[in-house]
Amino acid sequence: MKHTLLPVFVLSAIVLAACGKKEEAPAPAAPAPAAAPAPAPKAVEVLHWWTSGGEAAALGVLKQDLEKQGVSWNDMPVAGGGGEAAMTALRARVTANNPPTAVQMLGFDILDWAKQGALGDLNELAAKEGWDNTVPAALQAFSKHDGKWIAAPVNVHSTNWVWANKAVLDKAGVTELPTNWDDFIKALDKVQKSGAIGLAHGGQPWQEATLFDGVVLATGGVDFYKKALVDKDPAALGSDTMKQAFDRMAQLKKYVDKDFSNRDWNLASAMVIEGKAGFQIMGDWAKGEFLNAKKVPGQDFLCFRVPGTQGMVSFNSDQFAMFKVGDDAKEAQTLLASAIMNPTFQSAFNVVKGSVPARTDVPDTAFDDCGKKGMKDLAEANTAGTLVGSMAHGHAVPASTKNAFYDVITQHFNGKMKSADAVKAMVKAAAE
Ligand code: BGC
Repeated sequence: MKHTLLPVFVLSAIVLAACGKKEEAPAPAAPAPAAAPAPAPKAVEVLHWWTSGGEAAALGVLKQDLEKQGVSWNDMPVAGGGGEAAMTALRARVTANNPPTAVQMLGFDILDWAKQGALGDLNELAAKEGWDNTVPAALQAFSKHDGKWIAAPVNVHSTNWVWANKAVLDKAGVTELPTNWDDFIKALDKVQKSGAIGLAHGGQPWQEATLFDGVVLATGGVDFYKKALVDKDPAALGSDTMKQAFDRMAQLKKYVDKDFSNRDWNLASAMVIEGKAGFQIMGDWAKGEFLNAKKVPGQDFLCFRVPGTQGMVSFNSDQFAMFKVGDDAKEAQTLLASAIMNPTFQSAFNVVKGSVPARTDVPDTAFDDCGKKGMKDLAEANTAGTLVGSMAHGHAVPASTKNAFYDVITQHFNGKMKSADAVKAMVKAAAE
């Protein structure tokens, strides 16, 4: 039998072990077991202008939804309705090469950023979840660029709404909701005579422009609105109809209190909520304030279309534009986009926000009467061709023209320009 010769150091180790002695020579240090790499924390940074009570409550629904999925939320609020201040803050971030993950944005602003190549590509998720078939075409026009999904629409708002305090109207003897301009003025008169403020308003350009959306629709109808505020047709902008719209703006001014200057929109809503004023003309984000104050539609407050605009809807949609981000942030961004587009979430969120879902397949069961009406009006206007993009909220013309229109409307509202001059100034603003 052949003996296997063990090397001497192995033999000595065996002998030492058998004698219970420890080997003196230090063993080479074993590498520490590799720690499993910690999963990268998932987080999104979101820039938005939802800072009022109702808006914050709605945003909370989205935050919680994401946090449940392990995505933390870095909030970047920039106050200012209509989002002008938020857009300025955004420009600074992008210039510094540090864009947020997602940004609340309106219509033409989304397309502007897309054209600059700043937005990501959501096509894979959109295809997987079938967004093409569930998001109305009027919204897709702003959520897609060059065949790519670049933004996730969270809602549809509309601007041609009036919000009223029922007790104030009862006291003033306004027994029926006005359906034409003259009756609206009579109702405002009655409220004013009863001692309350007729129209709650905040003197900021975007708020005046919000009134203007409804006034132009009520005065000239849908085709005129489109010609003037979407197509920037000089004949329509310079017409007698447009002059009449400005005259009506001046009429409304008479029912505004003396402290209106620079008041935030939600404080104007609070005037109606608290019974200090009868009416507010404002987009349906105002309903979020009433609900947040525990007011009940039909009982405490009423919603109706700007008199003369029944059957018409001037819409805007809050979308979350998704910026190009590094691979480390993509997963969280995709989870955010998917959460926004989830039909159950769209119901829960819009019930609180005052808007209606950005998808056609969300049932109206959870919505109050104003929300149900909003959903029905939207669907009908879409079919009838009476759905128009809100000029005041970025869905009719790009920001440069919108801002030029704002200037004219605000100067006129503040008595610095006569209607005849405002009309000429609108033609000029559209040509710049
Ligand atoms: C947005 C709303 C927002 C409102 C007031 C609008 O432009 O679409 O979501 O509530 O501004 O801040």
